[in-house]
Amino acid sequence: MTPTKSGDAILSLNGVTLRFSGLVAVSGVTMSIPRGSIVGLIGPNGAGKTTAFNVITGFYKPTSGYVEFSRAPSESVRLTGLPPHKVCKAGIARTFQNIRLFNNGTAMQNVMVGAHLRQRGTWWMNMFSYAFPAAAREEREIASGAYSLLERLGLEKYADSPASSLPYGAQRRLEIARALATKPSFLLLDEPAAGMNPQESAELLDFIRRLRDEFSLSILLIEHDMKVVMGVCEHIWVLDQGELIADGAPNEIKANPRVIEAYLGKEAVAHA
Ligand SMILES: Nc1ncnc2c1ncn2[C@@H]1O[C@H](COP(=O)(O)OP(=O)(O)OP(=O)(O)O)[C@@H](O)[C@H]1O
Ligand SMILES: [Mg+2]
Repeated sequence: MTPTKSGDAILSLNGVTLRFSGLVAVSGVTMSIPRGSIVGLIGPNGAGKTTAFNVITGFYKPTSGYVEFSRAPSESVRLTGLPPHKVCKAGIARTFQNIRLFNNGTAMQNVMVGAHLRQRGTWWMNMFSYAFPAAAREEREIASGAYSLLERLGLEKYADSPASSLPYGAQRRLEIARALATKPSFLLLDEPAAGMNPQESAELLDFIRRLRDEFSLSILLIEHDMKVVMGVCEHIWVLDQGELIADGAPNEIKANPRVIEAYLGKEAVAHA
């Protein structure tokens, strides 16, 4: 699958720049992500990858440029300027580089937080559920939906355990479950393999593919683990100091001298 500007893109960045006072963290980035694909964003530390995620998800407003999202082929919205909860409602969910779970909450409660974002009623209606039977029904549906998500991700045995007590790999999956509870069509994963042991990161490849297929998602992942990136991504963009320096299929990226130089320095290219 090749990304095209005019093709069926689920998300596009158009000349996106983000400055932090003196520093240009993301510089004129244009990319277009095909619907249904699993694609990667890589680059050395400080390249601007997480910042790009923060722009897409509304945590930062770009200094210039805009982000467009097309949940269904016939519709398209500009996300730029929308706050994070509205971007999430539009159909984009994310996980964080440093896991952000409610540590004292159970696994169930963490997933239900995601689902509440889609709720029609409000929290106070649940408190007076005798007067708002529809809200009570909705709350029961949310709980059963959350439990079935835990089951689908193999986390049901942790349903009543505090999030902080889960093994590390399971916490990463729980964060993904919470993201899925918002019913996204586009999922952003910021370093999903970070801190995983080799077996967990090998399993992650199949897991990410299964997510895409079973939840009809398009997925963009940031990842330093090259086995994961090269193993699962159909297309890869490379950022260095805020600028896109390459994009292509995994094999093209592996052999690209600019990419090797960005990661390993000029000498590595000379010896390659
Ligand atoms: N809130 C902020 N204020 C000022 N500078 C920031 C802020 N967030 C990020 N930066 C800077 O922007 C640049 C890009 O950071 P970013 O976190 O996007 O990099 P990254 O590619 O995700 O790196 P890593 O692989 O280490 O996670 C860095 O120089 C960083 O110090
Ligand atoms: Mg980062």
